[in-house]
Amino acid sequence: MARAKKSTRSRSTRAASSRKPDAIALLKADHRQVEDWFSQFEKARDDDRKQRLATKICNALKVHTTIEEEILYPAFLEATDETDLHHEAEVEHDGARKLIAEIEASSPEDDYFDAKVTVLSEMIKHHVKEEEQPGGMFAKARSSDMDLDALGEQLASRKEQLESEADDSDDSPVPRGQRSRQQPGRMARTR
Ligand SMILES: [Fe+2]
Ligand SMILES: [Fe+2]
Repeated sequence: MARAKKSTRSRSTRAASSRKPDAIALLKADHRQVEDWFSQFEKARDDDRKQRLATKICNALKVHTTIEEEILYPAFLEATDETDLHHEAEVEHDGARKLIAEIEASSPEDDYFDAKVTVLSEMIKHHVKEEEQPGGMFAKARSSDMDLDALGEQLASRKEQLESEADDSDDSPVPRGQRSRQQPGRMARTR
């Protein structure tokens, strides 16, 4: 697992010259985006729309959990020694990752597809609450000496890299739902 770089000391210069989201703002924006797609999925009626939304949700969650695990979580553990919070978050990611693999290997025609997406939504809702609630990881990260501006930049650039890798592997003319049935679980991390 990649380690976050040590804090830099150019925080005030950076803050003055740009208004990029810091680590917590970037991750919370990801949470809001995925919540919006889950609520659109709940209302969706046709299979194409469900498939498109499920694909967007799974891809976004894979990128989000990967950047948290590679960059934010190790920096958080190093800065705070909050082992329980850190380990529980990783275990919750692993649970989500298994369900994401099942959704990717499935399709809206399958009886259990909607149930899997609904359960994933509930798991993510719980996990996001743990991260964002008072006394949760994000609050503790804010009150630590973590350089959230520098970490925000690292998260943004790794996110961009992972998204462009996903786009590159998406060039096949075969529709995603059909392809993923043959190649279940293109996960960001080996299991
Ligand atoms: Fe998160
Ligand atoms: Fe997380």
